[in-house]
Amino acid sequence: MRDKNVLNVLVISDVHAHSQDPRSSQTPSFYSTNSLFSDAGSNPLTDIPTIIKKHGLAVDWVLTPGDLGDRADPTSQKIAWEELEKIRQQTGATLLIGTTGNHDIDSRRNFPEFDPKSALQALKPMFPVSCSLFEENDGVYSDRFWSRNFVVIPFVEYDCTLVVLNSSAFHGYASDTKGPSREHLRGKISPLTLEAIKKELAGHNTRLNIVLLHHHLSKHPWIEDSDSFVIGGDKLSEYLKETGKQWLVIHGHQHVPHLSYADGTPLAPVVLSAGSVAARTYDVRGVHPRNQIHHISVHLDDMDPSGAEVLGNITSWTWAVGSGWREASVDGGLPFKCGFGYRPSAIELRNKLVTAAKTAAPGVHRWANVLSMDPKLQFLTSDDLAQVLSMVQQTGTVVDFDRHQLPEHLEWRE
Ligand SMILES: [Fe+2]
Repeated sequence: MRDKNVLNVLVISDVHAHSQDPRSSQTPSFYSTNSLFSDAGSNPLTDIPTIIKKHGLAVDWVLTPGDLGDRADPTSQKIAWEELEKIRQQTGATLLIGTTGNHDIDSRRNFPEFDPKSALQALKPMFPVSCSLFEENDGVYSDRFWSRNFVVIPFVEYDCTLVVLNSSAFHGYASDTKGPSREHLRGKISPLTLEAIKKELAGHNTRLNIVLLHHHLSKHPWIEDSDSFVIGGDKLSEYLKETGKQWLVIHGHQHVPHLSYADGTPLAPVVLSAGSVAARTYDVRGVHPRNQIHHISVHLDDMDPSGAEVLGNITSWTWAVGSGWREASVDGGLPFKCGFGYRPSAIELRNKLVTAAKTAAPGVHRWANVLSMDPKLQFLTSDDLAQVLSMVQQTGTVVDFDRHQLPEHLEWRE
């Protein structure tokens, strides 16, 4: 029996923790475990609970899609995980859920007691997830993740199936610097794992369906490299669609925030490429990807009971040295507010908006009225909304935007 209408998820990805001076450009991230750099202008983790509370947002789960510590440093991994657990407690979330990134596995044999995943298996609370199946702290879900490279967890209260996938499962077991697959960069979902996922998903029938992994499911449009997505990702995408559900896929890895659909088909998964909370980023296509966190609200009551659509809103914040967290702009990341899951015909929507603007002439048609007439418009992705509004503007209709680049008014001018 489902008793929750909304699932709220806070995504904090790619911490890349280290113990050095984060002011040095040689360090991989702005997050240092050194307590000298714990103030909110130096440490991106410090103010996260404050910003969530300030916006009055609830959090049910804190998700972290991999790369806790840079280059698998076990001490930094442990501190980063403990800091995320503190954020879980301070935001009132019930669960902290992670997955392994390429930086979480000691594939370079840097540490003398070489065992590529042992540091993660020693984390408290249990990694990647501490919820239990048969009895308290039984570790069954965690053990399944490590033994099968994925775990499927049902959440009856949210009518939800969560798949936590280990796309770094083959790191450390062979040379990571040779061979044609570039597995050390791309990650891999093996054919055996894919078939096992397919088989297990056949036994689940929920309205909300989510996959958490580290590597990219499909090609990121901003990233030129054509093989930067996970090996087996195309097959996974097909298997997810074969369930008859629209899945929400959340990943990290390349530190370039983006929200899109995996392809153009109706059941294509919604893919959130989470920004890194702290890693130093580098220009992509002339744009500087921002350090971001994302709060996702999935609206179960608005969604078709079959699970054939997933509808939600995302709120994002951007962090900068000195100034800390602020409401995100569209520059180099996700905007402050956007949605996902609603995919109407762009031409039909353009015509509807232009007609509304004409009806209101010589006055303006407020966007709030547009939303009240068609509430599902809040679930347009920012790219889809921008493209439709561009089409609207081409008709001569004026669109006024607010400071977050969200539409405020439509005005028809003869
Ligand atoms: Fe990363």
